Amino acid sequence: MTESQATHRIDFEPVGRRIDVPPGTNLLSAAQKAGVDLVAACGGIGICGTCRVRLVDGLLTPPSLTEEDTLTPAELEQGFRLACQSQPLSDVRVDIPPESLPAPQKLQVGGQEVAVEFDPAIRVVDVQLPPPHIEDLRSDLRRVDDELAARGLPPLTASLEAVTQVSQTLRQNNWCARLVLRKAAGDSLAAALQPGSPVLGVACDMGSTKLAVYLVDLTDGATLASAGAMNPQIAYGEDVVSRIAFANKEDANRRLLQTRLVETINQTIADLCRQTGTQPAQVVDAVMVGNTAMHHFFTGLPVEQLGAAPYVPVVSDPLDVRSAELGLNLAPGAWVHLPANIAGYMGADHTAALLATHGYFDEHTVVLVDIGTNTEISLIHQGSISSCSTASGPAFEGAHIRDGMRAAPGAIERTRITMDETHVSTVGGLPAVGICGTGILHAIADMLECGALDSRGVFNRADPRVRVPDHKAEFLLVPAAQSGHGRDVVITRSDVHEIQLAKGAIRAGIEILIQEAGLTPAGVTLWIIAGAFGTYLDLKSAMRIGMFPDQPLERFRQVGNAAGMGAKQMLLSHALRSQSQRMIAAVEYFELTTYTAFTNIFVDAMYL
Ligand code: FES
Repeated sequence: MTESQATHRIDFEPVGRRIDVPPGTNLLSAAQKAGVDLVAACGGIGICGTCRVRLVDGLLTPPSLTEEDTLTPAELEQGFRLACQSQPLSDVRVDIPPESLPAPQKLQVGGQEVAVEFDPAIRVVDVQLPPPHIEDLRSDLRRVDDELAARGLPPLTASLEAVTQVSQTLRQNNWCARLVLRKAAGDSLAAALQPGSPVLGVACDMGSTKLAVYLVDLTDGATLASAGAMNPQIAYGEDVVSRIAFANKEDANRRLLQTRLVETINQTIADLCRQTGTQPAQVVDAVMVGNTAMHHFFTGLPVEQLGAAPYVPVVSDPLDVRSAELGLNLAPGAWVHLPANIAGYMGADHTAALLATHGYFDEHTVVLVDIGTNTEISLIHQGSISSCSTASGPAFEGAHIRDGMRAAPGAIERTRITMDETHVSTVGGLPAVGICGTGILHAIADMLECGALDSRGVFNRADPRVRVPDHKAEFLLVPAAQSGHGRDVVITRSDVHEIQLAKGAIRAGIEILIQEAGLTPAGVTLWIIAGAFGTYLDLKSAMRIGMFPDQPLERFRQVGNAAGMGAKQMLLSHALRSQSQRMIAAVEYFELTTYTAFTNIFVDAMYL
């Protein structure tokens, strides 16, 4: 093919996708159009370096200045490029390295379980009806309503699809059916299932990076199975700010974000059902939580106003939506409950996390930190809750870090760095190919301890492992000969800076809430660390680098996915849905972007 052709063909390997695009289309847009989930942490504006691909065959536009800054001359020589910066000039074949794909990784879905009074939002009514005959010509629905009236229950209200299911189920099962009725307002019939059928519910925590889905038996409250999945929206921006920008470009983008998310949730529910010998059509109720942007992406609500001050949500009250309206493949009359959002950058996931941990609030002064690309923090003191949200960014997920990656096989997750040795351990025990968030925290804490790094984040150039190529200092963690990809694995000065920004944002949020309440860190008797990253976090390292104040280890609890646990509790107990709403109605929310002392506190908090 030549440069003058109307389209160029792009082959993406190893995923095996192919697409024809008009000249001028960059590789990232082409990947997105082809349904290839290429990681694009900054949404394609060229600052994160996560979308790297390698040209195998064909011709691309010359490297941009951004690429020359981000990639080393050796990498450019080997054909590495940033997908968002390069456009094909001919048919091309590009290889996507594992670190640029949302690879399988540790997906923490578990959390600390708390027993709740089992009172789901549905009731199960098993009916056996007399069949119609010449002297009983009542309609199918009237027949059901009469039976319900005899049991003191109101008549059915239902969508046409659910009414169809009643009729078909009764006729196929000798006039017996397991009716599932909603207790809340709205259509009352969730499903008409076969007699003895399982009755299921789904709780889901929609994180910016990962989804956690739980399949629950709504007849006894048992969790049948759970699974984690990568949020497919990563391909359109690692953090919600980039995705909001992507969604705001055109309505089709906003719809794409919703469709991809719903597809993945449907797929995960179908997988869980397959594992447990059940069916998605037996899922009659769902509770979904997520930050406010995820809530809006999932429901398809506009997000423009979340991208600009004063960052207000379209909806903050709880929503109950028919599952069919959202595209979820559940029972025909199933509804989805979305608990209340607290603010534009503090969503129902934090509402759920507060609910899941509220058992501690009477006895303790609590700081609850739910770490993610956006970190939500609450201080609970003497019955009142104050909260804030800080943009900790995706550095803990390995983005913006030179050799950063998620906690996938080959990622360094722990280190032992002393004056004399550098030892790393990786996910799966494989040769190192990069470093994940817990690993880099460990490494920074170790480097501080042995004097390779100072509290400003500056390397000690007298350390033999510190070198300064192109006037940019870096610490050699794993030499090329021992790594899994034949390249050195290093931590650069700018990697340390990224971690300083992330941990500084978290620490500043904590300090502000504590100061506003007239407390000191010592006055906090319980530190609850939630979220997947918080589960694997080494607390000593986190305190050593100043992410948390130096406090006795026994005051800390790592509770896992508190948001997921809270969602599950609201699935199991209808009453907890309104309790969570009452709880957050009294939250005092601090908007840090307009908090005058924030900058000074943040700058102090960046010291290691
Ligand atoms: Fe390409 Fe960020 S540099 S997506």
